[in-house]
Amino acid sequence: MDSQKFLRAAVLGLAGMLLAGIASAQSAADDANKAYSRKGADTCIACHDDAVSLAVFRTPHGVPTDPRSPFGHGQLQCEACHGGGDAHAARVRRGQERPPVIRFGSDMPDAVGVQNGMCLECHDGSVGFGWHGGPHDNDEVACADCHTSHATLDPVLQTGTQPDVCFDCHQLQRSETLKAFSHPFFEGKMACDGCHAPHGDSPDTTFARQTLNDTCYECHAEKRGPYLWEHAPASEDCGLCHSPHGSNHPGMLTARAPLLCQSCHSQDGHPSIAQEADGLAGASMPSQYLLGQSCLNCHEQVHGSNHPSGSKLMR
Ligand code: HEC
Ligand code: HEC
Ligand code: HEC
Ligand code: HEC
Ligand code: HEC
Ligand code: HEC
Ligand code: HEC
Ligand code: HEC
Ligand code: HEC
Ligand code: HEC
Repeated sequence: MDSQKFLRAAVLGLAGMLLAGIASAQSAADDANKAYSRKGADTCIACHDDAVSLAVFRTPHGVPTDPRSPFGHGQLQCEACHGGGDAHAARVRRGQERPPVIRFGSDMPDAVGVQNGMCLECHDGSVGFGWHGGPHDNDEVACADCHTSHATLDPVLQTGTQPDVCFDCHQLQRSETLKAFSHPFFEGKMACDGCHAPHGDSPDTTFARQTLNDTCYECHAEKRGPYLWEHAPASEDCGLCHSPHGSNHPGMLTARAPLLCQSCHSQDGHPSIAQEADGLAGASMPSQYLLGQSCLNCHEQVHGSNHPSGSKLMR
């Protein structure tokens, strides 16, 4: 541990206490709170030798040989995150309250700004500029609401366990992913960060890529085209026909054909008004082509066609 840092911390603490003589006793406690303990982690471990506390040494944060790590040379160890703990670690009189250190999670009394500030001290670069003013920052979500710093494997960084972390707050999306057809979240093959940038990509998008479609193309490259014959809605917004979190219709469609198609296509030219039991509207004979795949029986290239005569998306 860097003795200079501790000296500075101790001096600050002392100055705080002197000042407090003039001001209120409360601010004396506040200032003393900011002083760092003398022996770093050893001070803390004297009381906090439980499994959860000690687990921090088995995380990427507990690497003494990494000078950037809280436990690297010259760093403040436990107090790099929890803030100065000298007063907290001191003996308290019976009946007196132990001055707290910074605790983490938006349900804790410490302001989220203060908590996140401790992490950003080292991670401003890693979360990127999209974090600041993004939806999570704006709504005072704490880093620790998603990240578990005392777990060997941080659940939000594991594909299989990440969705559950998000579902803590995003119940609506949870119910969508439980529908009959969804991306393979529960097989552990994919997580929310396949499409979303959890720290925000820029202040106005939480997608992993600039646009929604670019995000989908990342894994569904064959849908990017360019097609000889484009189907306008597909190149515009995959979300016009698909519910990305899940749906009760096969293929995660927002509706089944023919309803899906008829939400945009009128019966001009090709008769495509709501399907009657006896076939295509206006047709004299029942059409077996409207069973099953409905419109898709004929218009099967619904994302676009590269066939010279595919203008009607039929091949
Ligand atoms: C003398 C024993 C002692 C020492 C030394 C000590 N603590 Fe504590 N700590 C406690 C007790 C007891 C609590 C339980 C809450 C209370 O009484 O305020 C606690 C609570 C905490 C909490 C909140 C846990 C919770 O359940 O909410 C954190 C975080 C914490 N200590 C961190 C530290 C750090 C970091 C250090 C080293 C700078 C440290 N402690 C040193 C006794 C100690
Ligand atoms: C003293 C600097 C420092 C502080 C303070 C700090 N970190 Fe880190 N953090 C690091 C370093 C160093 C690494 C390892 C980075 C690497 O290996 O590239 C790291 C890694 C991480 C990782 C990646 C872990 C993994 O399993 O890959 C996460 C997530 C993280 N920190 C979150 C946090 C959060 C949340 C806080 C606040 C509660 C915090 N950090 C506070 C320095 C710090
Ligand atoms: C909404 C949940 C969420 C919040 C809030 C959040 N993170 Fe993350 N963080 C993630 C996820 C998910 C990842 C996995 C990598 C990715 O998809 O970008 C991650 C990755 C990281 C990493 C590792 C980056 C790497 O490339 O290895 C660090 C460091 C980190 N976060 C720090 C923070 C800090 C600091 C804060 C608070 C300012 C924070 N995170 C807030 C979800 C979150
Ligand atoms: C990288 C930042 C970081 C470091 C370093 C760190 N902690 Fe924590 N600590 C946290 C966060 C964040 C939480 C909230 C729970 C979690 O994420 O696991 C926490 C929670 C705790 C708790 C409460 C646990 C509970 O049961 O709720 C205690 C006690 C604690 N830390 C003590 C320590 C001690 C002792 C050290 C040093 C050996 C230490 N911490 C080092 C970030 C850190
Ligand atoms: C502690 C609660 C909390 C957790 C955990 C959380 N979020 Fe959020 N999230 C929010 C809040 C609050 C907002 C802003 C209000 C809103 O749009 O619902 C938000 C907004 C979002 C948005 C953007 C909504 C928009 O309007 O642009 C996305 C996307 C998102 N979260 C994804 C995630 C993902 C992915 C995770 C897990 C890695 C996650 N969230 C974890 C609370 C949380
Ligand atoms: C296949 C891509 C994809 C995946 C994976 C994904 N999302 Fe989304 N998410 C989207 C799209 C597209 C939108 C915007 C359209 C919408 O609201 O349905 C969105 C919107 C959101 C919103 C904002 C909704 C609103 O009302 O503004 C939240 C919150 C969210 N997603 C959370 C999650 C969570 C949590 C997960 C992980 C279980 C997740 N998403 C996985 C594509 C995805
Ligand atoms: C991180 C990769 C990834 C991203 C990004 C992604 N998907 Fe997927 N998608 C998958 C995987 C994996 C499957 C399952 C494939 C399988 O089971 O063969 C899938 C399946 C699908 C299916 C077929 C579902 C079924 O029941 O047959 C649709 C439709 C789909 N994705 C639409 C989208 C849309 C729309 C987007 C953009 C909002 C998107 N995907 C973004 C990975 C991704
Ligand atoms: C006009 C409505 C519509 C739009 C827009 C649309 N799709 Fe589809 N998509 C469908 C239909 C209908 C199916 C089911 C096809 C079938 O069952 O043969 C489907 C199936 C899929 C499938 C699974 C079967 C396959 O062909 O691989 C994926 C993946 C997919 N779409 C991705 C996308 C992506 C990515 C976008 C945006 C570029 C997109 N879709 C836009 C209607 C649409
Ligand atoms: C979100 C609205 C929307 C949905 C849903 C939609 N389409 Fe389209 N479709 C369009 C637009 C816009 C065009 C381009 C019309 C034009 O260029 O005149 C188009 C063009 C077409 C064409 C080529 C028409 C021509 O004259 O070249 C066919 C065939 C077609 N759609 C079939 C379908 C089928 C089948 C479905 C259901 C799976 C469907 N569409 C769903 C908006 C939609
Ligand atoms: C039995 C095969 C078949 C089925 C089923 C079918 N279509 Fe068509 N559709 C065609 C053919 C053939 C054309 C080309 C007509 C032409 O060129 O005049 C066409 C043309 C179209 C066009 C272009 C219309 C225009 O003005 O040129 C649209 C849009 C369309 N169909 C939508 C639909 C929708 C929506 C459904 C489901 C309700 C559907 N089709 C079902 C065979 C079919």
